[in-house]
Amino acid sequence: MPLLVLGANSLIAQAASANFAEAGHEIIFAGRNKEELSKIAGDFNIRYKVNCLTEYFDALDYANHRKFVETVFTISPELNYALIVFGYLGTQEKAQSDFTEAHKIINSNYTGVVSACELIAAEFESRKKGSIAIISSVAGDRGRQSNYMYGSAKAGLSAYSQGLRNRLFKSGVNVLTIKPGFVDTPMTYGMPLPKLLVASPKKVGKDIYKAMIKGKNVIYTPFYWWWIMKIVKSIPETIFKKLKL
Ligand SMILES: NC(=O)c1ccc[n+]([C@@H]2O[C@H](COP(=O)([O-])OP(=O)(O)OC[C@H]3O[C@@H](n4cnc5c(N)ncnc54)[C@H](OP(=O)(O)O)[C@@H]3O)[C@@H](O)[C@H]2O)c1
Repeated sequence: MPLLVLGANSLIAQAASANFAEAGHEIIFAGRNKEELSKIAGDFNIRYKVNCLTEYFDALDYANHRKFVETVFTISPELNYALIVFGYLGTQEKAQSDFTEAHKIINSNYTGVVSACELIAAEFESRKKGSIAIISSVAGDRGRQSNYMYGSAKAGLSAYSQGLRNRLFKSGVNVLTIKPGFVDTPMTYGMPLPKLLVASPKKVGKDIYKAMIKGKNVIYTPFYWWWIMKIVKSIPETIFKKLKL
């Protein structure tokens, strides 16, 4: 059953897709960089012997989302899996003084997902089958001074995916919320992160694939982030606000 990936240039997207391709699923890679997507699709075609297609998709071009979703369901009528990967970390400091940056962070991580997801959800709901997986972040579990613009958009996204899951449950459509910790991708390159806590896109991609196939509700990836965030969330606000996090 085919998989649609939004934000397919991401290394996490490619790693998750590789698991689907290995299992024989057709893939539609969607994103802004069609040239790069064509290279990825060509590579998958040769490596996994599966049919791979590419489509242009810009999360911020809301006006074209309906046409995009109609197109993908037309070219792939059996489409059953949608993985929403795109996101934008941005710069917290810049976002505090420049609303254009704050707006981009909010729109890229929240509004863009809602716009595309509602259209995909409606199609799956009418077919009474399908599976949507949305990449949120552990950053959405607690607001921190160092990245609360991004974190708050991801918090909204986690709540959105939770509500969508509740709505679609009765139609037999699954919605998975994915909360990665630190992952070694261009988004985190150059950041002073604790090496032991930085996972590979391959590990995160495998976790995403397994959770989608099993129809899970929420995953932390790697799993130990569930424990880390349990501790982080339990710190009283009076103490937390004094920490340089
Ligand atoms: N890396 C981490 O530590 C980490 C941790 C937690 C959650 N996440 C989440 O995991 C997801 C993947 O991130 P990543 O680490 O792979 O980061 P990345 O390498 O920066 O990839 C982000 C992807 O989002 C796409 N994108 C951004 N804005 C877009 C737009 N307007 N329309 C379409 N695509 C757009 C980018 O497309 P282009 O190639 O066109 O720029 C890129 O492919 C994101 O949702 C991120 O928030 C990452």
